[in-house]
Amino acid sequence: MSAGFLRRVSRQISDLTERNLLRTLDARRSRQGGRIELDGRELINFCSNDYLGMSSDEAVIQRVSDEVKKFGVGSGSASLLSGRSSLHAELEKELARFAGSESALIFSSGYLANTGAIPALMGRKDFIFHDKLNHASLIDGVLASKAAHKRYPHGKTPDLSSIQDRDVKMLVTESVFSMDGDLIDLSSLLGNVIQNESVLYVDDAHGFGIVGNGKGAAGILSCGSQLSSSVLVMITFGKALGSMGAAILGSNEVIDLLVQKARTYIYDTAMPPLCVAAALESLTLLEACPKRRQSLFENIRFFRRLAREAGIQLQDSDSPIQPIIFGKEEKTIAVANYLMKRGFYVRPIRPPTVPPGTSRIRLTITSSHNHDDILSLIQAIKDALSCRL
Ligand SMILES: Cc1ncc(COP(=O)(O)O)c(C=O)c1O
Repeated sequence: MSAGFLRRVSRQISDLTERNLLRTLDARRSRQGGRIELDGRELINFCSNDYLGMSSDEAVIQRVSDEVKKFGVGSGSASLLSGRSSLHAELEKELARFAGSESALIFSSGYLANTGAIPALMGRKDFIFHDKLNHASLIDGVLASKAAHKRYPHGKTPDLSSIQDRDVKMLVTESVFSMDGDLIDLSSLLGNVIQNESVLYVDDAHGFGIVGNGKGAAGILSCGSQLSSSVLVMITFGKALGSMGAAILGSNEVIDLLVQKARTYIYDTAMPPLCVAAALESLTLLEACPKRRQSLFENIRFFRRLAREAGIQLQDSDSPIQPIIFGKEEKTIAVANYLMKRGFYVRPIRPPTVPPGTSRIRLTITSSHNHDDILSLIQAIKDALSCRL
């Protein structure tokens, strides 16, 4: 290998290390959940997006093992070849019914859905407005589309009428922001989109199965608006459904076009049947068993009340995502390490995942936690803040 290349690799690693930005990997030795085993210790886990504990649910595991016997583990091919099974078709049908959309199309991951669907629907003659705090997959999808684009300040409603000379205008946003936990003002964004004959593309990765009042909570779609022809929604299965994969929800024609044009759909091995089976069973549980969501939200309220009483500065989030922002990387790492020593699994989140100067610990509350877990976490954070790390 070229010596120049290797020198550059080591320089980049050293530079990231010096700036406290080097990412490192852990490997737990247990199921995902409220408690995990790492390096021979049991830790209370506040770092999981498995908000409802579906990834380890016994009914989900049983369904996976039943369906795997029938369909095998892997899909073995792209969806347009022999990779799509009747299980995939069943999940698409169920998702569309549950969310009230005409149609749904499964992608192997949310990253692939965003980077495939946006460029399939938008091009050089179009314009995209996107929120400054959008997930990397949305940014990459927008860039891959080659449409003209503008990032608007987080949480604001951009002026779509300011752009006149483009074929199609699209507004791209997350529903619940993945690093901040705040929820968009859907009615304001949708009003703007409809008034300006534009399209709204919502990444509902952290909303689906969690947000909304309806039975089972169909995410952002249960927040006052039906899926209209102006709205496209991307949902993922790796969070509330405890599996992996994603889907775009939209009209029959939009979904037909994605099958023709979305490169990350066409040229990708179809989602493994075992993940499809898990998502299907989780969806059934979501509808049948509102208790999980009830205990999740009870835990969130409990966490926020205790944190406020302890003087811990929280963000404006009623979702499972509860960041504590420290700003500097060094401080964030020190607090994360301290909490790990005290028996909590938390990780520092630093740029470029979040904007410079906003390094944080992104806590996630789940239905698998109990009040004692939360009480002891708050005490440990309080101690960390008082011992000047
Ligand atoms: C907001 C958001 N969109 C998309 C993704 C990507 O989804 P996946 O993990 O299924 O690729 C994530 C995942 O972390 C996310 O948080």
